[in-house]
Amino acid sequence: MNISVTQQQVEHKYRQYHKRINDALGNCFTKSTPETLYTPARYILEGKGKRIRPFLTLLAAEAVCGSSTNAMNMALAIEILHNFTLVHDDIMDHADLRHGRPTVHLKWDANAAILSGDMMMAFAYECALQTKTSRHDELVHILNDANITICEGQALDMELEQRKHATISDYLDMISKKTGRLISASLEAGGIVSDAAPEQLEKLVTFGAKIGRAFQVQDDYLDIMAEDGKSGKVAGGDVINGKKTYLLLRSLELTDGKEQDILQSVIDNKGISPDRVPEIRAIYEQCGVLDEAQQIINRDTEKALSAVDTLPFKEGREHLKGFALKLMKRDF
Ligand code: IPE
Ligand code: IPE
Ligand code: MG
Ligand code: MG
Ligand code: MG
Repeated sequence: MNISVTQQQVEHKYRQYHKRINDALGNCFTKSTPETLYTPARYILEGKGKRIRPFLTLLAAEAVCGSSTNAMNMALAIEILHNFTLVHDDIMDHADLRHGRPTVHLKWDANAAILSGDMMMAFAYECALQTKTSRHDELVHILNDANITICEGQALDMELEQRKHATISDYLDMISKKTGRLISASLEAGGIVSDAAPEQLEKLVTFGAKIGRAFQVQDDYLDIMAEDGKSGKVAGGDVINGKKTYLLLRSLELTDGKEQDILQSVIDNKGISPDRVPEIRAIYEQCGVLDEAQQIINRDTEKALSAVDTLPFKEGREHLKGFALKLMKRDF
């Protein structure tokens, strides 16, 4: 697939927009009391979030000939909604670390994490309604649909943890809901703000669904394979919790004997102790599952690139494609 921007140009734009997004987020939660409500919201948003979803909203707005400035409120809505899901996800996953810092429910408590998350969700809708557009009803509908779909995906994630048997297709369905839909919604919303036509929105949604799935497979890969400290999360958290990831499900099929017994014990015991994470990592490294995961990521990214190949504004479109390639190779 030909791309007419360089990775350096994509990197430059990402850095520039990352700063714009962070500056705007810094002006969002200015109230000081109740302290246990607003301080956690500021804390999660001050973390080292990659700002992938709001960046995609701004790029999508440009790719259909609109302005990123006009799309900023919607980009903030998406990022705040995303961070609300992270705060609640960390309670559900018993996670101690996020962005290399204690999670909100550890630093405060579960009640503060639940409540700040709830408030952030409502705040996200307020941001969306501040967007200059005649299509607020569509923006709200997209947020609702993404929100409900994430809940479905998170429920399936929890159900899969408890189940003895799960297929790779169960896993792919679950991740397209918990992760894919918000990423496709980020792009769709950017398109709406720029008054995109239905067929352009469809292309943006397909692009988002494909890179969204690749993104979660990569997240699962990095959960256990990232260099020390780079993910900002507890290394191996997924196997510690007995999560049914692609890595676990597929490596069960690729192994036999003692290795397969160890992987099966992760499922039977609904997790494994943290000191045994290196054993699982070694099995993954040997059985070929890491290459297969990379193939899924590459294939989905290729499909994403072709989905947007006919969007009207060349520079915006090429940056979307360039960013998909950057995500495919991410190590953070
Ligand atoms: C984490 O998303 C949750 C997933 C859907 C995998 P990100 O990896 O985009 O999290 P931040 O925003 O950069 O922290
Ligand atoms: C992310 O899945 C799902 C949502 C936040 C909705 P994970 O549980 O894998 O995300 P991380 O790895 O904790 O960021
Ligand atoms: Mg998690
Ligand atoms: Mg989770
Ligand atoms: Mg994860």
